[in-house]
Amino acid sequence: MRMYDIIAKKRDGLELNHSEMEFFIKGCTSGDIPDYQTAALLMAIYLNGMSDAELLDMTLAMRDSGRIADFSGIEGHTVDKHSTGGVGDKTTMIVVPMAAALGCKIVKMSGRGLGHTGGTVDKLESVPGFRTALTHEEIVRSVNEIGACMIGHSDDLAPADKKLYYLRDVTATVSSLPLIASSIMSKKLACGSDCILLDVKFGSGALMSDMSEAVSLASEMVKIGKSAGKRTAAVLTNMDVPLGYAVGNSLEVEEAVRILRGEQKGDLYEISIELTAHMAHLASGLPMTECRRLSVEVIDNGTAFEKLKEIIAAQGGDTTVIDDTSLLPKARFSCDIKAEATGYIAHMNTQKIGEISMILGAGRAVKEDVIDHAAGILLRKKTGDAVTQGDVIATLYTNDSEKILESVMAYESVVTYSEVPPEVPPLIYDVIK
Ligand code: URA
Repeated sequence: MRMYDIIAKKRDGLELNHSEMEFFIKGCTSGDIPDYQTAALLMAIYLNGMSDAELLDMTLAMRDSGRIADFSGIEGHTVDKHSTGGVGDKTTMIVVPMAAALGCKIVKMSGRGLGHTGGTVDKLESVPGFRTALTHEEIVRSVNEIGACMIGHSDDLAPADKKLYYLRDVTATVSSLPLIASSIMSKKLACGSDCILLDVKFGSGALMSDMSEAVSLASEMVKIGKSAGKRTAAVLTNMDVPLGYAVGNSLEVEEAVRILRGEQKGDLYEISIELTAHMAHLASGLPMTECRRLSVEVIDNGTAFEKLKEIIAAQGGDTTVIDDTSLLPKARFSCDIKAEATGYIAHMNTQKIGEISMILGAGRAVKEDVIDHAAGILLRKKTGDAVTQGDVIATLYTNDSEKILESVMAYESVVTYSEVPPEVPPLIYDVIK
């Protein structure tokens, strides 16, 4: 078999078969296939798309390019959740303890933030002592004893994705729907859980800004998950407005705690209930109405909040900062942003808000950047809220005073106002099963 022929076949719009796909993924992972040939095939895929069979073959070959996590030592069905990424998306820190309080078993692997989106690992590292790297034995013990752990991604899972993503990034092929689907699902399948819930976001702060593209991505990923023998579902959620009120690491931990203590309702609470209910439904088969009722109950009776503390303690974290969030890292400088008009907030450029949070120090422009756990933004008003000129609509936090002016000017341009209430789109658009 020659890579040249595989590229030519795909260039001409023909379907690659199982062995050709396996040859490609194996060769690209081992380095036997040079990067220029891999890049050429990626462009041919970008231009011609992939059949369902090709997409499944590619995803499974990518999954098999490294270790597949083996959680057979965990009693019960394991359930995973993956978000395609958003601004202020701290749902993992909320739904993992909620689902564990409902009896689900969760090994949640998360990444670090890059660009305008944050990463759960960075958020959790706001908690002093919290370890996101656990041994296999520690993972199995924690999940059997308390139901969940929250850890970082392991480099030996789906290594083909790392190679392919690097080449996609420099060949303008990142935005190919089948390449995104295979990238995400190869890693999820390698993580080894029995059930997978996908939170596919659309809107100005999302990977897919267009809703119909997000629906197509969700459908492809659900098909892949099911074909690979996993119970899989996708919830399509709106990311045209940041989720909740906090953007930035320790600010988001604080907000997650407020939700788990039952002190904050609204969009973040609603989506957390819905995601937890879907996780429980996938794992247990109980009806959704019952799973929703139980999800509300674990917040109301405090068991989800206690579960968060158990998880943090089991991973070496200091739970006193969870009991008293004023002890979390705090920024030295803050600055209020005031409404420029009277009326309603008509729209917020969510991606830009994520970028401003990054400028303040909460995120990374490049992988090597060091983050400031205390930096970020607290939104005081969101899309649809009534405002009077001069009202505080957001507060910016940083430890780098030189970033304030640039960030204030940038924030003023992300919000638009209207005299009449804008139409606020639903938070949850659809569920694909
Ligand atoms: N997230 C991934 O893991 N892969 C992509 O290709 C895009 C987003």
